[in-house]
Amino acid sequence: MMSEQQTASIAKQRVLSGMRPTGALHLGHYHGALKNWVRLQQEMECFYFVADWHALTTHYESRDIIEKNVFEMVIDWLAAGLDPNQCTIFLQSRLPEHAELFTLLAMGTPIGWLERVPTYKDQQQQLKDKDLSTYGFLGYPLLQAADILIYKAHYVPVGEDQASHVELTREAARRFNHLYGRETNFDALVKATLEKIGKDSTKRFEKSRKVYQETGDTKAMEGALGFVNSSPLLDDAERERLSAYFRGTGRMVLVEPQVLLTESAKLPGLDGRKMSKSYGNGIAMREDKASIEHKVKTMPTDPARVKRTDAGNPDNCPVWQFHKIYSSNDTQNWVRQGCTSAGIGCLECKRPVIDGILAEQQPMLARAEPYVKNPKLVREIVDAGTDRARTVARATMHEVRGAMGLNY
Ligand code: TRP
Ligand code: SF4
Repeated sequence: MMSEQQTASIAKQRVLSGMRPTGALHLGHYHGALKNWVRLQQEMECFYFVADWHALTTHYESRDIIEKNVFEMVIDWLAAGLDPNQCTIFLQSRLPEHAELFTLLAMGTPIGWLERVPTYKDQQQQLKDKDLSTYGFLGYPLLQAADILIYKAHYVPVGEDQASHVELTREAARRFNHLYGRETNFDALVKATLEKIGKDSTKRFEKSRKVYQETGDTKAMEGALGFVNSSPLLDDAERERLSAYFRGTGRMVLVEPQVLLTESAKLPGLDGRKMSKSYGNGIAMREDKASIEHKVKTMPTDPARVKRTDAGNPDNCPVWQFHKIYSSNDTQNWVRQGCTSAGIGCLECKRPVIDGILAEQQPMLARAEPYVKNPKLVREIVDAGTDRARTVARATMHEVRGAMGLNY
């Protein structure tokens, strides 16, 4: 059984993620990321931000695209079900603190770490029409590290393509804590903190610490740190200090986050490749009805079904991937049966997919409506979220500056 204290500390676990504002979000974003974000907002303290600086790392020549898309993307988020009362929605470029942390981290980050991030070479190859031999593009995973570390996020929900960035973030945190995590007057501070919990508790704490450091007894650690973490006499910094003292490590100024892998693209694009704006094979979350119908009706199917009488195989057909998301088991059986026996035609087969997409879209359109009508509301949500984020970001920067000897 978990104690109340433990449940409370789990409830406080923090999630952070961001998205680039490069165009209307499509169903791939919804099924691949947003649905997960919506679920997480009920379970953890979630921070979601518009990564407009990140968009500039590849689209530095197209400021109009970014500008137009920032608030449209937030409407897509709200349409998907993000609730500004349950999560914090904000805009990266309003928080120069991110840039400050990025700069400070950059001082001690080896260039090789960035050159070795797999997305670096991959993207340069894929986006050949853009000149990506820029300093900003090389450095952007470190900017991402700053985005994450500044909120001391425990979890970062991203797709597989971003996992290496979270790994870099962990390395950056470790390096920072190693270089700057030791308070200069650590021993005196520990002594003062122990005085707060009183003689008897200090005695027990010191005894467990000795046991732990000599034998590695984790029970001793759990007991002692459990006590420290639930002591109302201490603030967070003091708890952390005692925990560092107990373990014989530096203070963890920055928290190493964990990646929360979202299964990769459950929903492919209309042509079976990854759904992506640049391939032009997507359906926007708020696309109009006629266009959805048209796109699905003209979707390619199993090439073996040239004529209506040719049998097909759903496994060779992108429409089937849509059925897997949008159709009931019964419908799926009907598809398998009808396709392999040429009992149904492809247009017929596509109908439930169209209906499924339209049905899924209804609540999204309804949620988006007030914001489309009154864009001021969106700005207010972003303003309020940015204020909340700023409080956290500033507190971290205060600690970071302190750790680096910059709080003159
Ligand atoms: N780099 C991410 C992308 O291109 C977006 C992003 C920026 C992000 N900062 C982040 C994601 C922090 C998670 C956490 O999709
Ligand atoms: Fe694809 Fe359905 Fe046509 Fe089979 S019947 S090829 S699953 S669209």
